[in-house]
Amino acid sequence: MFGSIKNCHNVKDFRKLAKKKLPSPIFHYIDGGSDDEVTYRRNTESYEQCDLIPDVLSGVNKETLDLSTTVMGQKLDMPLYCAPTALQRLFHHDGEMAVGKAAEKFGTMFGLSSLGTFSIEDIAKEIKTPKLFQLYVHKDEGLNRSMLDRAKAANFETLALTVDTASGGNRERDLYTGFTYPLKLSLSSMMEFILKPTWGINHVTHKKFELSQLKDHVKEGTSVAISVGEYFTKMLDDKLDWKRAEEINKYWGKPFAIKGIMSVEDAKRAVDIGASAVMVSNHGGRQLDGSVTPFDQLAEIVDAVGDKIDVICEGGIRRGTHVLKALSLGAKACSGGRMYLYALAAGGQQGVERAIGKLREEIERDMILMGINSIDQLSRKNIKFR
Ligand code: LAC
Repeated sequence: MFGSIKNCHNVKDFRKLAKKKLPSPIFHYIDGGSDDEVTYRRNTESYEQCDLIPDVLSGVNKETLDLSTTVMGQKLDMPLYCAPTALQRLFHHDGEMAVGKAAEKFGTMFGLSSLGTFSIEDIAKEIKTPKLFQLYVHKDEGLNRSMLDRAKAANFETLALTVDTASGGNRERDLYTGFTYPLKLSLSSMMEFILKPTWGINHVTHKKFELSQLKDHVKEGTSVAISVGEYFTKMLDDKLDWKRAEEINKYWGKPFAIKGIMSVEDAKRAVDIGASAVMVSNHGGRQLDGSVTPFDQLAEIVDAVGDKIDVICEGGIRRGTHVLKALSLGAKACSGGRMYLYALAAGGQQGVERAIGKLREEIERDMILMGINSIDQLSRKNIKFR
């Protein structure tokens, strides 16, 4: 019978279960993209434009497999990590803590968002796996400084500056459902919450929802309800430029990534300002619809900067083979949001552990079937474009 995480064997299954468990405005916030969601769909489809070419009789077995990789100086036990995503305690009352613990169990990196619902300090205290702090540069300079100082003081190993949010994306599903945070209930959305009473009971009986990094600085998102699209447009610094990115990198002084790079020229600029990594990402198809996908841009970006900085392929990952294809083109690792968010909604920490565990098993099985012992053996000769 469907309805338990035990019956979820892949990201699609977790998505279905999340849809059952979440009030629909929240589900659609996770699930949706911008405009016609063309880019969102293509993010996954683009991995299917090429096929893997296996080698046989190579004597590879489970005991000798090595999935480890090093990203921004951090050794990860597997080449896939949890990208930072916002508002996680809306999806499950254990939110970021559940995801961080699951990432720790698999020895992979955990990203905490500026729009996270656990504080930098609480996460640092509990989570012992490499941690990335994701920075949204706000118009409020005091807030930017506070987030950077807190992440530094809490010994977050890495920082990712998100650069694809100069305006909010046009997320029409949120317009239809009226999704804001804090939640603002209309008569019709109230019905959705009544239909999912378990979510509602958990929401009111656990730690009060807050935007832990922002609440002492801005009212929006805490006492003033706002959609994510509006938040980006109103609160984020639309004057953010390369000079500022360079200053932030210097101020941070530790491994630093630019998240949301899509062009070769920008990847080269990231090298020029001293970044340690670029995250090739279109924000999960939630910002500029009709824009190119990370997988489509990967090879060119790797060719231009892959010998100088780490190139990470973010978005659209639903299968172990997607990771192997990105690594074959030269990515150091992959990351994703929805791949663990559906599972968080479906089953908290256990759900996320099962989702990451299933993807890890797929990567292992696929490596064995490819005749590959360690992920650095993957190269373009393992892949054929149609
Ligand atoms: C999003 C942000 C907050 O909703 O990452 O896409």
